[in-house]
Amino acid sequence: MSVAHEHPVRIAVYPGSFDPVTKGHEDLIRRSLAFVERVVVAVAVNVAKQPLFTLEERVGLIRETVRLPGVEVQSFEGLLVEFARRIGASVIVRGLRAVSDFEYEFQMALMNRNLDPKLETVFLVPAFDLTYLSSSLVREVARFGGDVSQLVHPAVHQALKRKFAR
Ligand code: PNS
Repeated sequence: MSVAHEHPVRIAVYPGSFDPVTKGHEDLIRRSLAFVERVVVAVAVNVAKQPLFTLEERVGLIRETVRLPGVEVQSFEGLLVEFARRIGASVIVRGLRAVSDFEYEFQMALMNRNLDPKLETVFLVPAFDLTYLSSSLVREVARFGGDVSQLVHPAVHQALKRKFAR
């Protein structure tokens, strides 16, 4: 039950391509729930490169992978700040793994702030053993038949096997 003096529900948007979702993403979603009540995982429609998984597949795999109260998955098209405004998010969550992420992330954070000064970007550090994990490496290893079972949820592992079945 909601009472008047309670603080408003804090919503974070966690945007990305999620092509596919990895254990690194799962880790960040869980960590986000420590400081917001709701996390909306926002799968970008218009990624520059041709994704391996379709939008529906990427959304479906996150839904299969992360079943937590307070977490939902949506796709979005256009500007992230506009999507964030529509869903009432006050925070953008992004993961920072290595120095190599920094420049791109810093640019995006400043551009998003320029577009909407009230929206704050929060960077989370992933678990130590997931620091060097990325969707692009997972795709590449899976493409050549390498074992990615430790790096992704079993549903994603199966989906990769189907994608690359010869
Ligand atoms: O996982 P990715 O591919 O690094 O995610 C990038 C993403 C989807 C977060 C970024 O490209 C994005 O926000 N796209 C939506 C369009 C937009 O708002 N662009 C301006 C960002 S400064």
